[in-house]
Amino acid sequence: MACASSFAAVPLAAPVVIFRLTSDFKEDPNPNKVNLGVGAYRTDEGKPWVLPVVRKVEKCLANNDGLNHEYVPILGIPEFTQSACEIILGKDSPAITDNRVGGVQCLGGTGALRLGAEFLRSWYNGVNNSSTPVYVSAPTWANHNGVFGATGFTNICSYRYWHATKCGLDLQGLLEDLENAPEFSIIVLHACAHNPTGTDPTPEEWKKIAAVMKKKYLFPFFDSAYQGFASGNLDKDAWAVRYFVSQGFELFCAQSFSKNFGLYNERVGNLCIVAKDNDNVKRIRSQMEKIARTIWSNPPAQGARIVATTLNDPALFAEWTDNVKTMADRVLLMRAQLKEKLEKLGTPGTWNHITQQIGMFSFTGLNPSQVDYMVKKKHIYLLGNGRINMCGLTTSNLNYVAESIKEAVTSGQ
Ligand SMILES: Cc1ncc(COP(=O)(O)O)c(C=O)c1O
Ligand SMILES: *[C@@H]1O[C@H](CO)[C@@H](O)[C@H](O)[C@H]1NC(C)=O
Ligand SMILES: *[C@@H]1O[C@H](CO)[C@@H](O)[C@H](O)[C@H]1NC(C)=O
Repeated sequence: MACASSFAAVPLAAPVVIFRLTSDFKEDPNPNKVNLGVGAYRTDEGKPWVLPVVRKVEKCLANNDGLNHEYVPILGIPEFTQSACEIILGKDSPAITDNRVGGVQCLGGTGALRLGAEFLRSWYNGVNNSSTPVYVSAPTWANHNGVFGATGFTNICSYRYWHATKCGLDLQGLLEDLENAPEFSIIVLHACAHNPTGTDPTPEEWKKIAAVMKKKYLFPFFDSAYQGFASGNLDKDAWAVRYFVSQGFELFCAQSFSKNFGLYNERVGNLCIVAKDNDNVKRIRSQMEKIARTIWSNPPAQGARIVATTLNDPALFAEWTDNVKTMADRVLLMRAQLKEKLEKLGTPGTWNHITQQIGMFSFTGLNPSQVDYMVKKKHIYLLGNGRINMCGLTTSNLNYVAESIKEAVTSGQ
């Protein structure tokens, strides 16, 4: 007897916006098309870039007969988790010296966020509490809501972050919202190169944020997906996390090596845990091991080996920092050229924010109908909120993009 599928009632889910944009771009036959939506680095030829240091290490690993494909420990490759924590906290971090830091290898930054979220939901303050408020910035990387929501957190709130008329940080609003958050709330903070706004607090502003968070016993959960991309300098980009550590906070930091190593599809991430003492770290990691066991059981080795090898060899490390700087510098150059071109064209509005913003992304300030104009009329693909990936710009499409932005803002949109 033929019967209906057990899945007949499953509704078709909406496609993930960013991947939808890419497929629309691919299908567009227009020769002038530009994809400013991608979340990855591109060269000035518009191509993906395998970092030269990564190529080199990959070859060494391929020729290393001592390596095999046995399972790696559930918590990850120790050399990887340790060096990952060192790169964000600083090798000489007092927390590391005090032996109260631990890492857990995860599947990309997303996996680190998810593992941290799962742990917090089950154990934060000793209770399984899905009503603990989780605060994310407004706006934020859309998947923050997704990850914490999927973990079961039911009270995901936002704190003010972007001031649309100022085209910059809404520090006042941010501080007020943290001040009004219930004590012990979890606060998701972008360590640097805020996605999507490209706007970070200054050190002085971070100090104010930390002071409120300390007063209200708020838990900092940093998301570090772009270390090196903001300034081109790894230490500078880790300033906020290190400052919070220096202020005595216990914290989590989800680290992604997708962008700064260009290892997007290897899924390399680390959840760095800073706790009061070694005993806390031990117990936290033991619970995380149980959680990871039921999700992915064992993490993948290749990407973590590449990162660990690079971070632990002075010559390779120097080469990597140089590669990171190459990417960061190209972004800076595109920012400067886009701003200059927009101003030269007499595009209405001010464009200082293009060069003031940092990291891979820029919040252009284009409104949804202007974005629509860019996509439909100019075949330039970007997110509806006006976010562009600076790496989508190249020497050869920059003029076209700038002229199109001018058209979009002057055509009465
Ligand atoms: C703010 C932010 N956090 C986390 C991630 C996750 O990166 P991964 O690809 O390593 O999971 C991204 C990637 O776009 C991001 O922008
Ligand atoms: C929370 O729930 C998990 C399983 O859902 C359980 O293993 C854990 O013991 C619980 N934690 C507390 C503090 O009750
Ligand atoms: C769970 O969190 C909510 C919101 O912070 C709080 O009001 C409640 O008391 C917590 N429940 C437990 C059992 O701690």
